[in-house]
Amino acid sequence: MIERESIKETIAPPEKAYLVGVEWKAIPDGKYKPDAWPAEESLSELARLADTAGLDVLGQTVQKLERPNASTFIGKGKAAEIAATVQQMHIDVVIFDNELTPGHQRELEKVFGKDVKVLDRTGLILDIFAQHAHTREGALQVELAQYEYRLPRLTQTWTQQALTRQAGGRAGGSTGGVGVRGPGETKLEMDRNVIRHRISQIKRELETVRAQRARYRSQRRRSGLPTVALVGYTNAGKSTLLNTLSGADVYIADQLFATLDPTTRRITLPGGTVVLLTDTVGFIQKLPTGLIAAFRATLEEVIEADLLLHVIDASHPQALEQARAVYATLKEIQAGDIPMINVLNKIDRLADPEAACAALCHLEDSVAVSALTGMGLDKLLSHIEEVLESEMVRVDVVIPFDRGELVGLFHERGLIDKEEYRETGTRIVGRLPEVLALQFEAFRTPRAPRRTRQAVLSAD
Ligand code: GTP
Repeated sequence: MIERESIKETIAPPEKAYLVGVEWKAIPDGKYKPDAWPAEESLSELARLADTAGLDVLGQTVQKLERPNASTFIGKGKAAEIAATVQQMHIDVVIFDNELTPGHQRELEKVFGKDVKVLDRTGLILDIFAQHAHTREGALQVELAQYEYRLPRLTQTWTQQALTRQAGGRAGGSTGGVGVRGPGETKLEMDRNVIRHRISQIKRELETVRAQRARYRSQRRRSGLPTVALVGYTNAGKSTLLNTLSGADVYIADQLFATLDPTTRRITLPGGTVVLLTDTVGFIQKLPTGLIAAFRATLEEVIEADLLLHVIDASHPQALEQARAVYATLKEIQAGDIPMINVLNKIDRLADPEAACAALCHLEDSVAVSALTGMGLDKLLSHIEEVLESEMVRVDVVIPFDRGELVGLFHERGLIDKEEYRETGTRIVGRLPEVLALQFEAFRTPRAPRRTRQAVLSAD
């Protein structure tokens, strides 16, 4: 009985949230243009994010604006109206779909009252990231991003307790982290110093973890296995595809940002090529670049991949906008030039897959699949192999007999057109993945020296 009571005490009811979106009005020479993404759609995505964070969304509102209000972001009247609703509905947290400046956030907190937290999309995403980071590197990255986000926004006392909770990372989830209002600037400055100190500590820890990861990655590169990274909008089905293709057991949830840490599996393509397939963090619209940079672990997997599989939820009404948001992010992280296949996923959900896909099939190099039922996956695998082969480089080498392991490697990873024995070693003509070709550089067959124009002239 006593046990039951204590359980009751520890399970707090979910915090109540209210969402606020903005629709920019088009005005001549206006800086703020209407979004390609309608405010209502964007808010329903925000509601899913809030739900993933464990919040209970009780209502939402959208205001049409020409530009942000200097002090309260939305209009003052609208802010007062929301304040009344918030009091009436006992709302704990008001979440804005747009990025708020620290100043906006402070003003809004004053308008809504001291018990109401104000968050923006970035703050909410950070909160979800904190709940979902499972590796040490993931947890450190999230912690760093959270401190950097919160430092300029610190208006309240950062109690030692909050700091400890923060250091614990994922525990407790949701929108906690800042304590009660504090006694003044001195305390605030002290708190800021504590955070700055912690930021540099985390950065140092991250460097160590990253050095280990880099070593691991370079070992993997030396194995010469082509790497294929799954990228895509959050919830598009990347982990499901990884699981189906590799028989792996990666966590899948109908949630946004279920996967935060990169997971890599080996898969064998129909022609026998073995590749490393890596799942990565999902992208989302309005994700600030600073936050993207915080996820270097997964992004490095993307940047160094030989091929990207861009998974698109073809059954989503905003599929094309989601794809555009992914392209924009890839460009930002300088992964825009890596060969890419667009994987139109979830076609099992479409009543008429061909008609529905028509809207997306103009996307270059696309294959329609269902990661869930396996539909179209054979075609996808063959296509991956074709693209990887087209990316290989031609080599003509004579490998000394005492380097038999390189002959073995060529057989395992390359495509051989001709193989013969010479006096000095085994001559192989064929194709190899670019990274691997470097290891054979010293054994390229010397070409007969060409007579230069100068040599021809002087000989004559
Ligand atoms: P993040 O980790 O948020 O980036 O998501 P993700 O892209 O890894 O998506 P995940 O594989 O977790 O799938 C999200 C949801 O979509 C889950 O409920 C899956 O069961 C569902 N799903 C994935 N692929 C398919 C599919 O081909 N058809 C259907 N009907 N559902 C799918």
